[in-house]
Amino acid sequence: MRNVYIKGTGSYAPENVVKNDFFDKIGSSDEWIYKHLGIKERRISTGETTSDLGYRAGLNAIENAGLTVDDIDLIIVATATPDRQAPSCACFIQEKLGAFKSVAFDVAAVCSGALFTISVGVQYIRSGMYNNVLVIGADTFSTITDWERRDSVFFGDGAGAMVLSHTTEDKGFIDFILHADGRGKEHFNIPAGGSEMPTTQKTIDNRGHYFQMNGKEVYKTAIEVVPSCINEILLKHQMSIGEIDFMLPHQPSILILKEIALRVGLPFEKVKTNMDRYANTSGGTIPILLDEVHRNNEFKTGDILLFAAVGAGWTWGTALYKW
Ligand SMILES: CC(C)(COP(=O)(O)OP(=O)(O)OC[C@H]1O[C@@H](n2cnc3c(N)ncnc32)[C@H](O)[C@@H]1OP(=O)(O)O)[C@@H](O)C(=O)NCCC(=O)NCCS
Repeated sequence: MRNVYIKGTGSYAPENVVKNDFFDKIGSSDEWIYKHLGIKERRISTGETTSDLGYRAGLNAIENAGLTVDDIDLIIVATATPDRQAPSCACFIQEKLGAFKSVAFDVAAVCSGALFTISVGVQYIRSGMYNNVLVIGADTFSTITDWERRDSVFFGDGAGAMVLSHTTEDKGFIDFILHADGRGKEHFNIPAGGSEMPTTQKTIDNRGHYFQMNGKEVYKTAIEVVPSCINEILLKHQMSIGEIDFMLPHQPSILILKEIALRVGLPFEKVKTNMDRYANTSGGTIPILLDEVHRNNEFKTGDILLFAAVGAGWTWGTALYKW
């Protein structure tokens, strides 16, 4: 099996910055949002679609990898907010990139989407079927947010991307552990617009096309399943938490991340966050964070990275990577 590594990274978010005081009018506040979620501001699209964001992040990653669009064999997009229900967002992005030699499809795992999608891309390269895979996590949750509700404070729009390739060097993805539990499906969902509840005037009047979230259940689940999955992957590889140099997690809330770090015994300085500037960009969080840390030249050869995500479904997982 071939070693698969991250050859290039990229990211893009809309220019429009929405600060916390925007939510004063719905009974929230900068103080509450920063204290509970760690968010100061988020980017909100003023017309750019998910594929517009994903295209820019993807192009950025291809350039960073020193490749051209013709080198890309496969584009996989993690998104819960595709431009249209059909076709896939990946096909929109493929067209924008002009990457017509590539295959393109989406993966749906909401906030775990990027991690799940990376794991798919890695398998294609390991097996020898493809050489260069462009993985993109992109979402515009602003399009599925009920701006009259207080949970509108949680999300922002953005996209991150990475090019995965193979190498004979001793680096790259060590392993993934992924889980899903559909019994949790009601705790974060968009009730209307699918085959279960097709769009009608009533679904629109009932605001059924916006996400609905049970924040307490998200919190409770995240602080249980993520630490358990981190311990599972460490145990499998006979590694200790002390060997982790960086944790690059999904960005749900600062309190969730602090509790996860506490439970696994990881000093919080090793946990990378950027939710103060982007909030939770769902599929975008991990690849945007990775791009920032990569471009800051923070990784050294041999560093061990721990990726971790949890999201609707429920879905969750971890991955280990040697830089
Ligand atoms: C949302 C969350 C912070 C709420 O905390 P909680 O203590 O469980 O929730 P409660 O509903 O009891 O709210 C606590 C207080 O905050 C207030 N509150 C809730 N949402 C608020 C908001 N957006 N702005 C201001 N105040 C808010 C409540 O009114 C309540 O106030 P009170 O004590 O005066 O009655 C917490 O559940 C959480 O972080 N969940 C994770 C959600 C998440 O990460 N989602 C991303 C999906 S991947």
